[in-house]
Amino acid sequence: MLSAVPMKRPLIVVLNGPNLNMLGLRQPDIYGAATLDDVEQLCLQAAERLDVTIDFRQTNGEGELVSWVQECRGRASGIVINPAAYGHTSIALLDALLAVELPVIEVHMSNIHRREAFRHHTYVSQAARGVICGLGIRGYAHALQAVADMIEDEG
Ligand code: DQA
Repeated sequence: MLSAVPMKRPLIVVLNGPNLNMLGLRQPDIYGAATLDDVEQLCLQAAERLDVTIDFRQTNGEGELVSWVQECRGRASGIVINPAAYGHTSIALLDALLAVELPVIEVHMSNIHRREAFRHHTYVSQAARGVICGLGIRGYAHALQAVADMIEDEG
């Protein structure tokens, strides 16, 4: 009789860019009262449901974010990224995301298209399979669901 061999859970890396460590304090009228710890808890709960492992990180540094994306190649099965302001400015981040050749979902808590014109364009979107914005912190759970579906569909 075959014994059940536990399958290794796929790893999805959840990356957060600058100023997201200030969630809960920062412009609560736009971003709400939840903290980054609350976002991590929400992601951990979603990961349990989806049977995936997550590595949840935040940095204020563009170079560090680029290095973390590079480290995903060969290590992770997908990326969820809220690049925050670097989404609007960083070609280096776009290039790193293109280089890793993984399914990427971009998340913004606020609806960037209802805000200032400079937030309407993001470089990261060119590397993303999908973009979720305007759904608050729940956008992260939807993004994890989307990446998990892609991993399953693509084997
Ligand atoms: C954000 C939107 C960006 O325009 C902004 O710079 C952020 C947060 C969001 O989650 O809504 O820092 O990415």
